[in-house]
Amino acid sequence: MPKVPALAELQRRRSEKWYGHGDGVIAATVAEMDFELAEPIAAVLHDAVSRSDLGYTSGVPSSLGTAFAGFARRRLDWTVDPDRLTLVPDVMIGLIELCRLIAPGGSIGFASAAYPPFLTQLPAAGFSLVPMPLVADGAFDLDRLTTQLQDGLDVLILANPHNPTGRAVPRDELVRIAELCAQHDAWVLADEIHAPLVLPGARHVPWLEVSEAARYCGISLTSASKAFNLAGLKAALLVTASDRAQDIVSRLPLTNDQVGLLGLLAAEAAFTSGDDWLDDVLRQLDRNRTVLGDQLPGGIVWTPPQATYVAWLDCTGANVGEDPAAYFLEHSRVALSPGRTYDPAATNFVRLNFGTSEELLTEMLTRLSDRGQ
Ligand SMILES: Cc1ncc(COP(=O)(O)O)c(C=O)c1O
Repeated sequence: MPKVPALAELQRRRSEKWYGHGDGVIAATVAEMDFELAEPIAAVLHDAVSRSDLGYTSGVPSSLGTAFAGFARRRLDWTVDPDRLTLVPDVMIGLIELCRLIAPGGSIGFASAAYPPFLTQLPAAGFSLVPMPLVADGAFDLDRLTTQLQDGLDVLILANPHNPTGRAVPRDELVRIAELCAQHDAWVLADEIHAPLVLPGARHVPWLEVSEAARYCGISLTSASKAFNLAGLKAALLVTASDRAQDIVSRLPLTNDQVGLLGLLAAEAAFTSGDDWLDDVLRQLDRNRTVLGDQLPGGIVWTPPQATYVAWLDCTGANVGEDPAAYFLEHSRVALSPGRTYDPAATNFVRLNFGTSEELLTEMLTRLSDRGQ
């Protein structure tokens, strides 16, 4: 099983998840995992530091192209052309800059609830938001999408697997989304950052493998950062599979030297030599998902995620007041992400990050049940 440092050691971390909480708080907020870094990644980072190799990044080296294409083929059944990869600092910057090119000031749709920066950064960049609430079983609302496309929706950001529900969107739904968007001349930005974290029992269908229509109207955004816990190193990839999409990407006003060299080196190591570590992590996350199901406090309702390490918890029946995250922080000393940041209507929800050891997760769940009693 992947190692997790002791709680006191985690609390010394400077990253967003752990930094700045009060004494003794267990953090289960932002999507970082607690596992120790994969050894092959640590080795390239140590090596670069020891050689003072910390300068600018100069483009996608062929070694990174080969590494990602190999990873995509092995793990995701996805054939990637290594010549159609572009580096960007992170997925969020990639999404915003692509939207600026495709439809400056235009309308951007996404399934709601959604990754919180969609709700804050896209309007700040001048776009109008078109959140589309998920329907039964967390499925995409294809009727609503059709109506929005008829009304002129410019871009659909499709987070697959979805955050915060952890749903892996099935192929038939993707096929239909692609048909509709291509037909209405809308672009799909397929945010597949969580794809390597699909858990046993589900499968990720890569957007660019869905259909000709998907390749025509879509660009995939991905990164080693979520699956290998490298978010602070700033290196993500755009992938295309049509000339039309590649033409858009080639016009991005971003330069390779805006990407972190350590991020590039780490991504290359992850995609080349990270499989064993990732397999271990997926086993632990699968186990944690079971632990969560067994030990969730009474009154909390959830649908177990098919992917990634976040649980979207409906606390309506748990008697925890109007702000469940604030309640649990005060009474359980566990920091969770408030549902309203993913969807203003989701005030009774919290998101719990279970990318940690079974021991720490169990301690967290005990605290959530006990509530200081
Ligand atoms: C769906 C989704 N997209 C994008 C991001 C952010 O990616 P990046 O740090 O590369 O901007 C996250 C982070 O958790 C996410 O869940």
